[in-house]
Amino acid sequence: MNAVLVTGAFGLVGSAVVRQLAADGRDVVATDLDIGAHRKAAAALPSSVQVRYADLTDPAAVDALVEAVRPAAIIHLAAVIPPFIYTRRDLARRVNVDATGYLLAAAPAGTRFVQASSIAVYGSRNPHTVSGLLSADTPTHPADVYGDQKLQAEKLVRDSPLDWVILRLGGVITVDPGAYMKLDNLYFEQLLPIDGRLQTVDVRDVASAFAAATTAPVVGETLLIGGDDSHRQIQGDVAPTMAAAMGLVNGLPTGLPGNPDHDEDWFTTDWMDSSRAQEALGFQHHSWPDMLAETATRAGALRGLLRMVAPLSRTVLRSRAPYHRTGQQFADPWRAIADKWNEPRP
Ligand SMILES: NC(=O)c1ccc[n+]([C@@H]2O[C@H](COP(=O)([O-])OP(=O)(O)OC[C@H]3O[C@@H](n4cnc5c(N)ncnc54)[C@H](O)[C@@H]3O)[C@@H](O)[C@H]2O)c1
Repeated sequence: MNAVLVTGAFGLVGSAVVRQLAADGRDVVATDLDIGAHRKAAAALPSSVQVRYADLTDPAAVDALVEAVRPAAIIHLAAVIPPFIYTRRDLARRVNVDATGYLLAAAPAGTRFVQASSIAVYGSRNPHTVSGLLSADTPTHPADVYGDQKLQAEKLVRDSPLDWVILRLGGVITVDPGAYMKLDNLYFEQLLPIDGRLQTVDVRDVASAFAAATTAPVVGETLLIGGDDSHRQIQGDVAPTMAAAMGLVNGLPTGLPGNPDHDEDWFTTDWMDSSRAQEALGFQHHSWPDMLAETATRAGALRGLLRMVAPLSRTVLRSRAPYHRTGQQFADPWRAIADKWNEPRP
């Protein structure tokens, strides 16, 4: 078979990957958990896309899936990610690590296996004390359970005899305003040091990278997937600028800077050297300014409404913000995560 099997196919990245592969005329099999929201999303897919439901933490289900599809390539995206991973770390290990092992074991020799990893594997990045861009050679030193599990999964992939490729993603963002309307995600974003470095990337460009990685001559490579240079951002600018493009001008409260003297109290993002990935996969098509313009266009009539509610939104969100009335001078992201969800350390 020539099929590409996409796991986590109804997630943020998976939905874009499936669309990209279908648009490229590839034979796509989308797989994810069998829940109502996914059944609904499946109904809207192009008729050429096959859907098969499976819980990847069940090795027998994984074997049956791979046996039925006999894919030429597997794009493995299924995962439990922050902030939800902090409340479900055992389930997350079964999905993020164990299920990766089941898929690798089930796939026959010659299968191209494209693994979704994250720059979280590098750990905390204090911009006052570390310099230089992240690269495939930057030492890994996970600071939280997510980076740790992603690194464990990478090791399984590297040790497998399949034709593997690892894509480490930066901050994946989308021009779909609805995607930002989750309160847990907003809270999480607001506890991060506002002066941390973050390289964003349009989810459609991530999808292009995964699609290209199923055939490009990149076997055995670890590639960093970030947007072009316009995506080299400062954490505290990203959400407010995106929100303003949607009409919510000054609608988000401002968080706290990181402590320059505490290397551990920073989040796991930084700017990336994506030049090898871009050379091999040619995936960077959407600049940050283009994304903002498109976000504004898509928000359409909603913009006027959001502009009106922006002052109220700022007041309400500030009263619920992670460091509200703590008197803290600096952000303390891991403590804030532990207080809200659970201990995030590996
Ligand atoms: N979103 C980002 O900014 C980002 C950054 C770096 C890396 N990544 C990686 O990219 C991949 C995709 O991330 P995303 O943002 O689309 O995540 P997502 O949470 O939107 O999607 C993950 C999907 O995995 C599925 N899944 C979870 N448990 C499963 C199970 N037991 N069996 C089958 N499917 C299961 C979920 O139903 C969901 O559809 C992940 O591997 C993630 O670690 C994402």
